[in-house]
Amino acid sequence: MGATIVVAGTKVLGHAFAMRDTFDLEARSRLFDPASQYVGPSRLDEFTAADWNLLAAQRPPYQAALQAGQALRLLASSKDDPSFGYHVNNYRHCVQAATLALADGRGDDYVAAALLHDIGFIACPTSHGRFAAQLLAPYVDERIVWIVERHAEFQAHHYNEHPSADRRARERWRGHPHFEAAAEFVQRYDQCTVDAEAKEAKLSTFEPILQRVFARAPRALPPLP
Ligand SMILES: [Fe+2]
Ligand SMILES: [Fe+2]
Repeated sequence: MGATIVVAGTKVLGHAFAMRDTFDLEARSRLFDPASQYVGPSRLDEFTAADWNLLAAQRPPYQAALQAGQALRLLASSKDDPSFGYHVNNYRHCVQAATLALADGRGDDYVAAALLHDIGFIACPTSHGRFAAQLLAPYVDERIVWIVERHAEFQAHHYNEHPSADRRARERWRGHPHFEAAAEFVQRYDQCTVDAEAKEAKLSTFEPILQRVFARAPRALPPLP
């Protein structure tokens, strides 16, 4: 194992990170599949066509195997977060919604959406619906993506005494093919799953469901405008 010379250090969020000035082969992250290979260079502008082809071949099985666990770990990272006022934190709300969807016999796409619909609150609260929709979009049907992306607009319908929310926000979608499905999702699984007494399945219950969803070949999303 080659020596690593620390030439500088920095602090991010209280953690010290060492910076290296040597390339240490043993410092590379382990490969997902021991039978796979590393690219040659250590910077993208030096990659050859063979390096790019290697990555293109090795990426799909990696994502299919790891993405479900990564999404679950992201959600699990908020398990012990406090609540800012609701009876349950966002993690428990997500689990309650998915538990209810599963008990209702909903399919994989729907249960995955229920579990992940508010995952964006962990790191992207101001557009949390879009965050979750983008996460799911390559893998689930377009109706589910539509519901997840707009669920906050539909939820406002239930804010009966909210001092400023527009309870009629969802009306701009009245007549849309997915209007009723979005209204049902929010009414049945979202606005009522902030209950400290509600059933909560173990997170591991949903692992095989997410594994099936994220193991699908991802659809390409339209390019940014
Ligand atoms: Fe939400
Ligand atoms: Fe929610």
